[in-house]
Amino acid sequence: MRLTKEQKRILDGQEGEILQQAMIALVKYGTAMGAEEFIPVSSAHTFFFSPRAVAQYFPPRHVQLTEGHVTEFCEKLACIQVRAKTTIDPGAADLNKWRQMGASEDTYKLAKQATEICRRNGILANWTCIPYLEDNIPMIGEHCSWSESSALIYCNSILGARTNRDAGEASFFSALLGITPNWGMHLDENRKGTHLIDVRCEMNTTSDWGALGYFAGEVAGADIPVFINLMRPTVEEAKQLGASLNVPGGAAMFHIVGVTPEAPTAEAAFGGNVPMATYIFDESVKRRVYESINHQPKGRVNMVFFGCPHLTLYEIKEISRLIEGKHVAKDTRLWVMTTHSIRASAERLGYAQIIEDSGGDLFADGCLLSYYEYSDSDKPDLERVATDSIRQGLGARKSFGSNVFLGDTKRCIQVAIEGGV
Ligand code: F3S
Repeated sequence: MRLTKEQKRILDGQEGEILQQAMIALVKYGTAMGAEEFIPVSSAHTFFFSPRAVAQYFPPRHVQLTEGHVTEFCEKLACIQVRAKTTIDPGAADLNKWRQMGASEDTYKLAKQATEICRRNGILANWTCIPYLEDNIPMIGEHCSWSESSALIYCNSILGARTNRDAGEASFFSALLGITPNWGMHLDENRKGTHLIDVRCEMNTTSDWGALGYFAGEVAGADIPVFINLMRPTVEEAKQLGASLNVPGGAAMFHIVGVTPEAPTAEAAFGGNVPMATYIFDESVKRRVYESINHQPKGRVNMVFFGCPHLTLYEIKEISRLIEGKHVAKDTRLWVMTTHSIRASAERLGYAQIIEDSGGDLFADGCLLSYYEYSDSDKPDLERVATDSIRQGLGARKSFGSNVFLGDTKRCIQVAIEGGV
C-alpha cells in the first residue's frame, strides 16, 4: 500500500507501540483486500466489551494476559485520543440495573472500567447498536469504519455514508488512526445493486419489514438487493429491514428505489448492472418466512423480548400504550431494551413507569445476546422466547437453544399478558 509520510512514521513506531501495532494490522488488512491506499474516516463504531478483550487485539495475541498486562495496556491506551468520532456496541451489563439482569459484580466492574477507559481515550461509551440515531450520525458520502452489522447496513443504505463490514479489531484500529483501507463499500463500483426484489404485499408491522429483510438476505447473500414497489419506511421499519437482511447473508447495503439516497431510480440503483435475479415478495413468501422462524412456538413463554436493534422512543411509547393498565403473566418476563439516553427520556415521559407497573423491565447498555453470551451473568429462563425481531429470535435459538415465537409487537404484548402462545 502507498503510505503517506505520517503513516510511515506511525508504522516505524515513532508515535508509540499501540499506534504502530494498529498501523501494522491495518496495512495487513488493506493489503489482503487489495487496497492501494488509506482514506480518512470521520466515524467509527466498534466493540469495547472489556479492557481484556481490547488488549487482545494487540500482540501478544492468543495468550492468557495477566492482570498486570491488561492494566499496563489500559494506561498506555488512555494516553491516546481516538482520531474519529467513536461509539461502542452493546456490552455485558446494564450499568444501572446490573443486579436485575443477573450480572455479577465482576462483570459490572469490568463494564464500568471499560466505560472509564473509553472516556479517557475519547470514545463515547454509549453501548448501543443504534449509534446512527443519536450519537454517531455520519452524513452522505462520509467514510466510516463500523463493526455492528445491523448498524453498518443502515449507515450505508439509509444515510448514504460508506463503511465496510469491518471486524471489531479493524474498526478499533481505524478509530485510533482515523483511517481505513480504501476498498469495498468505500468505492462507487461496489455499491451497485445486484438483485431485484419486487414487493407485492402490504407491509403492516416492523416485523413484516424484518421478514422482507430476511427473505432478501436469503436470496441475495452478501450482495446488494434493490427493492421496488416498496413504500417509504419509518426509521423503525428501516432498522428492522437492515438488521434482518444481514442475518442469513452478510449484506452491507440495500437500495429502495425512490427512497434511499443512492437509488433515485432503478437505473441509478443498479448503476449499469443487469440484475442477477428477480424475486417477488408477496403474502405467501412473507408467511413462509414467519413460519420458518417460528420454532415450536405453541405453549408457555418465559421471556417476551423487544429491542433488537435497540428501541427508539417511539417504539417504547407504543409498547407502553399497549401494556398500560395490564399485567405481565406470572412466570413470564417482559424485557424492553434501548439506549441509556432513550431510557432516560422514557423515564422522564412516564413510559418507563407504565412498563414497570405492568411487571416489565426497561434495560439499557446491552441485549440478551450481549448480556449472556460471553459473560458469567445469571441468565433468565430463555427456553421459550417471544419477540418481534427475527435477528434476536434466531440469535436466542442459536445461542441459548430457545424455542422462538415471532410475532408483531401487539401480538407479543398479548403473549406477555397471557403468558403463552
Ligand atoms: Fe443490537 Fe443485540 Fe440485536 S447488539 S442488533 S440488540 S443482537
